[in-house]
Amino acid sequence: MISAAAARDFQLVRAPPDFLDDPYPWYAALREHDPVHALEGGGVFLSRYDDAIAVYRNPHASSDKKEEFRPKLGASPLYEHHTTSLVFNDPPLHTRVRRIIMGALNQRAIARMEAAVVTLVDALLAAMAEKRELDFIDDFAARIPVEVIGNLLDIPQAERGPLRGWSVAILTGLEPALTPAMFENGNRAVTEFIAMLKELIARRRKRPGDYESDVLTRLIQGEQDGGRLTETELYHQCIFLLNAGHETTTNLIGNGLWQLLRNPGEMARLRADPALVPSAIEEMLRYDGPIQLNNRRLVEPATLSGKSLPASTLLTIGIGAANHDPAQFPEPERFDVARKPNRHVAFGQGDHACAGMNVARLEGRIAFTRLLARFPHIEAAGPPERDRRIRFRGFRKLPIRIA
Ligand code: HEM
Repeated sequence: MISAAAARDFQLVRAPPDFLDDPYPWYAALREHDPVHALEGGGVFLSRYDDAIAVYRNPHASSDKKEEFRPKLGASPLYEHHTTSLVFNDPPLHTRVRRIIMGALNQRAIARMEAAVVTLVDALLAAMAEKRELDFIDDFAARIPVEVIGNLLDIPQAERGPLRGWSVAILTGLEPALTPAMFENGNRAVTEFIAMLKELIARRRKRPGDYESDVLTRLIQGEQDGGRLTETELYHQCIFLLNAGHETTTNLIGNGLWQLLRNPGEMARLRADPALVPSAIEEMLRYDGPIQLNNRRLVEPATLSGKSLPASTLLTIGIGAANHDPAQFPEPERFDVARKPNRHVAFGQGDHACAGMNVARLEGRIAFTRLLARFPHIEAAGPPERDRRIRFRGFRKLPIRIA
């Protein structure tokens, strides 16, 4: 049990080691004792579900985080990338770019992905069957999203190798405590990624793909009513799409399997009734979601959990904390593959709600349905290795044995 005093001392930039293993007891203490918790360097950490929803719905809670990141990232490629992306912008840029991206990620485009994902997942499972003991992240979870986004942008197979490393390096640039090595790797990744995209986009301009199904062609050509991305926006939105969809979905699948291994009763329930896979995916997202933090800045004063906050306060929304709030989720520490209702905020909410949530759900559904059908026995083959970051939550290694 974490004391009220310890909760009040809590700081994200020097999170205690046990927080990285299991942040949920800390979130519970913060929710109870200090739900609008002051962070060093200004700003507050929000841990209650109702406060998270209020912020996501507040039109005066801005996503423009340039002020916060300029001192951290300077005039660097990382800064240009992150501040151009959708999640750092408000209308009108946000509205215009989001329309183009949502147009490319429509239900028809997503339905068309299904067959390719099934083929890919089955090929990965066949390779896993040869090994018996393997790393679930490297051999399965991380292999799916990179191919899905690669297909979405129609990046040639031979050019997909570096995508995963670039994506991790660029997102790591958003960690609350950034080391010089993280900063340098992130900048190098943005520069190399742009060089690759320049060539890819030049080729696609010469030979456009199908506007309906090729997301890159759609991003190049913009909306048919005239909305277009600038060249810089185009590069950064492509990078953003890969980043947004890659590590997050890898971690949905990795974190999800880990919960099934820790809860054999729930694994058995899911095997007995595969129709529960979609609700199990929602519970995986709620219980230990891939993104733990979102940020906003107030442009008008607001009151949260009874505390008045002035304009310009930086808000850190604790997604994982909100998703374990007993005021919204009965028995929040119970992993229940049939939980209903399950109005989690793993994909955020409101104007910036995840544009790729149905892509992620499709990948998760196919991955778990085929995995459980293929292997009647899956067990841990040693301790997993956590990726020790705060904003993004997942495993570097998850050794398993299958039969
Ligand atoms: C389980 C996997 C995923 C999780 C947990 C996740 C989570 C999130 C969250 C929390 C946001 C909101 C950010 C904010 O409000 O500041 C977001 C935004 C976004 N996500 Fe995802 N995401 C996932 C997968 C994907 C995939 C597969 C794609 C693309 C194919 C994608 C594309 C986007 C885009 C474009 C946005 C920006 C939306 C906007 O600002 O308007 N995401 N995601």
